[in-house]
Amino acid sequence: MIPGSEIDDFRGMSLLITGGAGVLGKAMVKGLIAHGANVAILDYNLAAATELVNRLEPHTGSGEAIALQGNVLQKESVAAAVEATIARFGKIDALINAAGGNKAEATTSMEKTFFDLPADALRAVFELNLIGAIIPSQVVGRHMAERNQGIILNISSMNAFRPLTRIPAYSAAKAGVSNFTQWLAVHMAQEYSPQIRVNALAPGFFLTQQNHYLLIDQATGGLTERGKKILEHTPMNRFGDPQDLIGPMLWLLSPAAAFITGIIIPVDGGFSAYSGV
Ligand SMILES: NC(=O)c1ccc[n+]([C@@H]2O[C@H](COP(=O)([O-])OP(=O)(O)OC[C@H]3O[C@@H](n4cnc5c(N)ncnc54)[C@H](O)[C@@H]3O)[C@@H](O)[C@H]2O)c1
Repeated sequence: MIPGSEIDDFRGMSLLITGGAGVLGKAMVKGLIAHGANVAILDYNLAAATELVNRLEPHTGSGEAIALQGNVLQKESVAAAVEATIARFGKIDALINAAGGNKAEATTSMEKTFFDLPADALRAVFELNLIGAIIPSQVVGRHMAERNQGIILNISSMNAFRPLTRIPAYSAAKAGVSNFTQWLAVHMAQEYSPQIRVNALAPGFFLTQQNHYLLIDQATGGLTERGKKILEHTPMNRFGDPQDLIGPMLWLLSPAAAFITGIIIPVDGGFSAYSGV
């Protein structure tokens, strides 16, 4: 059985998180370490991952973190990070696929219509979010299949349920991530072990670097029309705080969720429940 008999005790558990140096990734790493887990952070940005590791404040019972440079779109790169994680922590109990995001170049605007969005930008967004979750799942999934146990947690989005305006590639890719979550949950349980679970979190609107330009008016510092609309459609009337992901993440990684696989949990302040009326 994977260590951690309680939802708040992850001592002895070893995880790999992609994009762990990002805004949401950082919060997840801190939450995991605080609960005793050992965490390998695979990120394209090694400097940010290393800085995160150096800033962690270990206390009695907390876990260890290591920073690894890697690219989720290159299998050899992910394989090297997996090898380094196993060399350090002995195994990988769980994988969190948090590398992802949108690009301004793949977003429609007054200046750039849908018809003009460059294929390269669309492809890059689509690949990072979907293929970037599939490749690490292949590499770590093999290790889990050999051990007959494991947990994969993908990060989907509100866009997956109903697409948001302006971001076609990101919306389609996240719909793909949710679909892939269900596919992989069934595949791993049927072909390898029912002790391998695959789920996803679908964060609502968290104010981060990737969407700052869409939600905050650069000139005034106030909300854009889009930012206002989002809050009007979020019954809890606020943006998410990265901390809001910690509870649902710990739950899905814990034995408390032992019979749960193939689900996508909105963490959205009620956005996906609200019809607007
Ligand atoms: N921020 C939000 O409001 C929000 C909402 C819904 C879903 N999400 C999703 O949550 C996840 C994390 O988002 P975030 O806001 O923390 O983004 P972020 O941009 O802050 O972090 C993403 C991290 O991924 C890393 N990365 C990018 N490309 C990579 C690659 N090829 N290989 C390895 N690492 C790579 C970056 O260096 C960065 O550290 C993403 O999948 C994002 O789509 C975010």
